[in-house]
Amino acid sequence: MKKQLRVGMVGYKMMGRAHSNAYRALPFFFDHDISLVTEAIVGRDEAKTAEAARKLGWNSYETDWRKLIERDDIDIIDIVTPNDTHEEIAIAAAEAGKHVICEKPLSLTLQQSKRMLTAVENYEVMHMICHNYRFSPAVQFAKKLISENRLGKIYHMRATFIQDWLMDPEFPLVWRLQQNASGSGTLGDLGSHILDLARFLVGEFEEVIGMTETFIKRRPLGGMGAMLQPERSQTKEYGDVTVDDAAAFLARFENGAMGNFEVSRFARGNRAGNRFEINGENGSIRWDMENLNNLQVYLEEDEPGLQGFRTINCTEMEHPYASAYWGAGHILGYEHTFIHLLDEFVRAFETKNNPSPDFEDGVKNQAVLEAVERSIETRTWSNFTDILQSI
Ligand SMILES: NC(=O)c1ccc[n+]([C@@H]2O[C@H](COP(=O)([O-])OP(=O)(O)OC[C@H]3O[C@@H](n4cnc5c(N)ncnc54)[C@H](O)[C@@H]3O)[C@@H](O)[C@H]2O)c1
Repeated sequence: MKKQLRVGMVGYKMMGRAHSNAYRALPFFFDHDISLVTEAIVGRDEAKTAEAARKLGWNSYETDWRKLIERDDIDIIDIVTPNDTHEEIAIAAAEAGKHVICEKPLSLTLQQSKRMLTAVENYEVMHMICHNYRFSPAVQFAKKLISENRLGKIYHMRATFIQDWLMDPEFPLVWRLQQNASGSGTLGDLGSHILDLARFLVGEFEEVIGMTETFIKRRPLGGMGAMLQPERSQTKEYGDVTVDDAAAFLARFENGAMGNFEVSRFARGNRAGNRFEINGENGSIRWDMENLNNLQVYLEEDEPGLQGFRTINCTEMEHPYASAYWGAGHILGYEHTFIHLLDEFVRAFETKNNPSPDFEDGVKNQAVLEAVERSIETRTWSNFTDILQSI
């Protein structure tokens, strides 16, 4: 019988569904010596949590995450709750000797993230942050092309993550719009994803300068469903939006490349415009999450007259992860990025190397976010290493 690692997951809404699906699908597509067991799920409302456990495939449930951490039958804590809860849960989990998977951004601040990293290192548990877009086959293939120097020296990365689900001024004041729960707005929520892709594909940041804007400053109280649909409160009360609705920043990377980044929830018509283009001396690549399987590649070495961006559907045997599935042209989706993330996590136990991206990546990501915030406060360029070492 395979060695089992039993997972306890805190939260069961949007990311709770994505992670639950990935736990179930992982052994169907990937072979490991270790199996992950969906042992217990946590929510605060007993009836809803029991229903989530049944529907999402968990063996038991708790209504307080502290009870989960006390349980001897749990080896891994998976955190899929709002950002303000990550630090306390992750540190308690590490102190109890449990391995930790945490959603992004790692926490509200660089200081919190560093405390989380210290805890997982001190208690020698595995740790991973859920930057799932790294695990799209097309993004992994982009990484391979860059690592093999097919693009040559990298000069530019321009990336966006732009959405439009918050444009209605009557959309409720959900936790993502409250600084005490989310840390920042689009900057941390969407920016952390494209920053991770930038660090993965191009390298470390050297300096940044940015701007943010909050277009709608007060909103009615209420929540939202797992599909980002509004759930208005019965009261007619309004509250202040305390985070940004949009952010943009310029960056210089340590390797000399220039970066241009934009995130927004006010880009009409863009549902999940997570896109990047990278330009090197010998070629360029483009990726768009809404066409997740495709990587556009331009290679200068192509014959004159036939040069141009070609679209590669990354589902051939040669492409990362593709051979675990259906055959060329049979496409994958958003949910597969989480399955691949868990594949990386389990392989870390098999090889006894911490998975990537981990809490150290989470700390560096948070340092870039704080460098952008510092640049906005001071209206000057902000140095990544200075911010990283400032706490
Ligand atoms: N990787 C991605 O693509 C991605 C996408 C969306 C969200 N996220 C991240 O995932 C995390 C959760 O986001 P979401 O969209 O799933 O949020 P959500 O609002 O849909 O769900 C949050 C869940 O946490 C629960 N919760 C809140 N406080 C709790 C507490 N104290 N104890 C137990 N449960 C608690 C809620 O009941 C709910 O089940 C955030 O950190 C977010 O940034 C990542």
